[in-house]
Amino acid sequence: MTLIDEPTVDARAGSRPRLGRARRVLMCRPEHFTVSYRINPWMHPAVPTDTGLALRQWQTLYDTYVRLGIAVELIDPLPGLPDMVYAANGGFVLDGTAYSARFRFDERAAEGPAYAAWFEQRGLRVAHARHVNEGEGDFLPVGDTIFAGTGFRSAPSSHRELSRSFDREVVPLRLVDPNYYHLDTAFAVLDSDGGPASVAYLPDAFDQAGRRELERRFPDAVLATREDAAVLGLNCFSDGRNVVIASRATTFGRDLERRGYVPHGVDLSELLRGGGGVKCCTLELRF
Ligand code: ARG
Repeated sequence: MTLIDEPTVDARAGSRPRLGRARRVLMCRPEHFTVSYRINPWMHPAVPTDTGLALRQWQTLYDTYVRLGIAVELIDPLPGLPDMVYAANGGFVLDGTAYSARFRFDERAAEGPAYAAWFEQRGLRVAHARHVNEGEGDFLPVGDTIFAGTGFRSAPSSHRELSRSFDREVVPLRLVDPNYYHLDTAFAVLDSDGGPASVAYLPDAFDQAGRRELERRFPDAVLATREDAAVLGLNCFSDGRNVVIASRATTFGRDLERRGYVPHGVDLSELLRGGGGVKCCTLELRF
């Protein structure tokens, strides 16, 4: 028997197989997707986009979720809102309450009320935001704590509003690299129950205080390579066992396997041209 051929399973994976939890998400078909303005460094309006390709790639993400048993709900896309496909920014839903989004840039402003109307129709209590925030793009719960990004989009004042709305601890994390302008581009929740190994992140995307906070709370986190972060590999969605990731994030995929997760690669290259990946297209509905 050669030990070398044995699959390497990291001790942090634990001895039992990981359990996927039932998840419910909201998505928006990219029927009107294009890049017609530039609000992040990924966007190049002069380069034509292929909406048909974006739709086909988005469909593979949708189909992957369905195959994994993740319940998917849909919001109707609106003409003139090409970024509406990035549903994560439409709000933040926890304990049956939706905290509405208020976008930093005028180009996306109308998405806030559109998503809020959907939440209301769906029977959720809506906490209408007074402060600028881009929903789950910047707010990610781990255990009982909500990690909240700031620096490019969501305002620190929204963190206080968020904490009051949900009566939870909110830990601010300052983003410093414009390529990683939303928290979900640089920080991924692998196991929402929490624990020292429950997240993955790109250390360089955070200021020193943020890095220190992350090291302290998650000493066994997966640290992403720059190459994987640069294809928005961290912009992934996990049910606690299955992790849907960018297929080009190969090192990240192997690290996940070693930790006992099951990665599922999808290619969203066309949607990456708007600056978004798997997680951006996904808003979790936590009832
Ligand atoms: N073009 C969009 C923007 O810049 C992309 C949003 C990506 N969403 C996310 N959750 N990171 O606002």
